[in-house]
Amino acid sequence: MATRTIVKVGDDTLRKTCKRQEKFDLRLAILLKDMADTMYKAEGVGLAGPQVGILRRVAVVDVTEDHTGLLELVNPEIVEAEGTQTGREGCLSVPGRQGVVTRPMKVKVRYQDRKGRLMELETEGFEARAICHELDHLDGKLYIDVMDRELTPEEIEGHIPEDDAQ
Ligand code: NI
Repeated sequence: MATRTIVKVGDDTLRKTCKRQEKFDLRLAILLKDMADTMYKAEGVGLAGPQVGILRRVAVVDVTEDHTGLLELVNPEIVEAEGTQTGREGCLSVPGRQGVVTRPMKVKVRYQDRKGRLMELETEGFEARAICHELDHLDGKLYIDVMDRELTPEEIEGHIPEDDAQ
């Protein structure tokens, strides 16, 4: 297992627009594996290229507790979005903070896998939220730029009304 250092807010790397990934080679496979390892170790549900200093359109997402739902998203694009959900969100690059963010309830995402094969996924709820969050990273956007409000330290520990208001 190889983990990489997570870039934190304030670093310019997080504000850049990433380039498309054109090569589907061993280097990409290693990057995706390292990104998944880094995400799992940090107990996150998603991680995007810029968060490990790589300005390419790559991200990993896994919202399952047992790490069985890994998505490796290369050059991902949201091609359809439907509805809204409002709930809490955090980011491994913004440690110790959480906010309330409104996202689409359902998304259809088109992407390539590590071999360059074209894939399509329709998903909803928390996985849709995580995918939207990671895709924003690829365009230099953080959830703190789009949040409805920031949670207080007490709210981070407890229940917030927005979690009920799907
Ligand atoms: Ni993030």
